[in-house]
Amino acid sequence: MRHEGQDNEWWVRIGHAFSTHVRDEVYVLERYEALAQATKDPGTKFLLELIIQDEHRHHQLFEELASSAAAHPGPDVATVPPAPHPEREHIPELLEHTRRFLELERDDAASLKQLARDLRPAGDEMLWRLLVELMQLDTEKHLKVLEYLERRLEAEGQ
Ligand SMILES: [Fe+2]
Ligand SMILES: [Fe+2]
Repeated sequence: MRHEGQDNEWWVRIGHAFSTHVRDEVYVLERYEALAQATKDPGTKFLLELIIQDEHRHHQLFEELASSAAAHPGPDVATVPPAPHPEREHIPELLEHTRRFLELERDDAASLKQLARDLRPAGDEMLWRLLVELMQLDTEKHLKVLEYLERRLEAEGQ
């Protein structure tokens, strides 16, 4: 689907940006892995491993974005699929599940907030509070995905 501002130059620029990110992410990932391997301290290693897992996923996603952009406008061999476009008869059920998940994630956000507060006395002497705060960020991410899906399904169902 084409939108305003998506001329050929735009496609080239975006494709280039994706490829640049792939290269940059590889560099950063290698630096993290080198430090994680070199360090003997379990706490430091654990934290670096958390980041490394994310960076692996970023790398994979940017590779998929780069190959999707490179495939455009050729035959559809893109690895990132098109936006959700389910069959009409499945939309109401999907929408219902999506809204239920939104509720669950919002409940989760509220209980994580309370838990982070309860963990405050632990301070920086333990990793627990940090881990709960990271889960709060993940929950925000899940909400963002589900809100997108809800918008998308609502638009498709009209
Ligand atoms: Fe990254
Ligand atoms: Fe979640």
